[in-house]
Amino acid sequence: MEIPGYREEPFEWYRKMRSENPVYREDNNVYIFKYRDVTAVLDDYRTFSSQFRDLMAPEMRRQLDELSSPSILILDPPKHTKLRNLVSRAFTPMKIASYEPEIRKITNALLDVVDGRSTFDIVKALTYPPLPVLVISKILGVPDRDMEKFKEWSDNLVRVLGFGVDMDTEREMAQYFSGLIDERKHSLSDDLISLLIRAEVDGEHLTRQEIIGFSILLLAAGNETTTNLLSNAIVTFSEHPGSFERLREERSLIPTAIEEVLRYRSPVQSTRRLVKREGGRIGDMKVEPGDFIFVYLQSANRDEDVFPNSEEFIIDRKENRHVAFGEGIHFCLGAPLARLEARVAMEELTKRYGDIRAVHVSPGGQGGQLHNVRLQEARGSGQLIQTFFQPPPEFIY
Ligand code: HEM
Repeated sequence: MEIPGYREEPFEWYRKMRSENPVYREDNNVYIFKYRDVTAVLDDYRTFSSQFRDLMAPEMRRQLDELSSPSILILDPPKHTKLRNLVSRAFTPMKIASYEPEIRKITNALLDVVDGRSTFDIVKALTYPPLPVLVISKILGVPDRDMEKFKEWSDNLVRVLGFGVDMDTEREMAQYFSGLIDERKHSLSDDLISLLIRAEVDGEHLTRQEIIGFSILLLAAGNETTTNLLSNAIVTFSEHPGSFERLREERSLIPTAIEEVLRYRSPVQSTRRLVKREGGRIGDMKVEPGDFIFVYLQSANRDEDVFPNSEEFIIDRKENRHVAFGEGIHFCLGAPLARLEARVAMEELTKRYGDIRAVHVSPGGQGGQLHNVRLQEARGSGQLIQTFFQPPPEFIY
């Protein structure tokens, strides 16, 4: 089977697979496309494991383990449950809501840089330095002076996403966070690192290695994904004339519109699982320990059995149980933060600009994952040029 690249936005391929081969096996690889199968696999962690570090060459694994513990994303219960309970303390709705003023301040500062220009790269404006990296760094308690380093590390992590590990970056980041933990241990404050140091469930604390692993995950998980959401939103709205005007006049619709962007153009296209016990099935197909499952979230999000007019972008769609943030025990911990960042960015953009429209889309950029899109601002004669980040191939680190 030829698997199309994500740069081409393989919606047609997903549609064909849903109708002709919803569960498709090739050797040890099983590809799944229907909503019911995707959610069934993600809900059954006993059969479908996330522990990918177990598969690494022993030497590489040993080196990585010395630097940081596997993050919650690549752990199964009971370890996952314990860690997730601890780190969830830092992601309560109240805590996330308290970040809104800071996010608005950062967003406006980034947009001020390009204010008054008739032509500019709108996503670059929000991504150099990246809004999500600035936000997560502030939340973690990273000093401003280290922001450049963060941007570089985050790019390096994204570059190898799904392909391997950048050991140098992992090492540098582990050393950096270890230093930050030492600093905070002497003077705890209200940042995330301090919260993680303090966090306790049933008398257990997070180890240094665990805090480092989680901090690295946050930086990797929250950057490219949220940037993709922002750029996908702008592209999608501009493909659907009238969207921007509607959102400007009806700002309360922005959260609903963002959910529809998440469904229609999902920032994370797929994830993976590893079969770890006998007797598993997906639909009619038997799966065996050692099989890899390629879980196509984007295809599930366009499943016609679940979403009426699933290939259409409906800005005020009512029922929207999409799986863009995953499903089950690994459901995205940062979803409320990503939603908040996207809402604030859209609110500020619709305050500043009238109609924004894409006039040109072309591939390019980092790791072949970026697209350049030109946007035209209808109010004036100027053009806005936007960089369209395509989803990374897989969501594994
Ligand atoms: C639009 C933006 C985002 C999207 C689409 C997204 C998507 C996802 C998905 C699909 C998963 C589950 C992967 C799996 O089951 O294999 C996940 C997990 C996770 N995400 Fe996000 N994410 C986004 C933003 C963020 C942000 C901003 C953060 C943190 C600051 C974050 C932190 C995490 C963490 C910690 C996990 C692992 C949860 C666990 O394993 O229990 N994500 N995300």
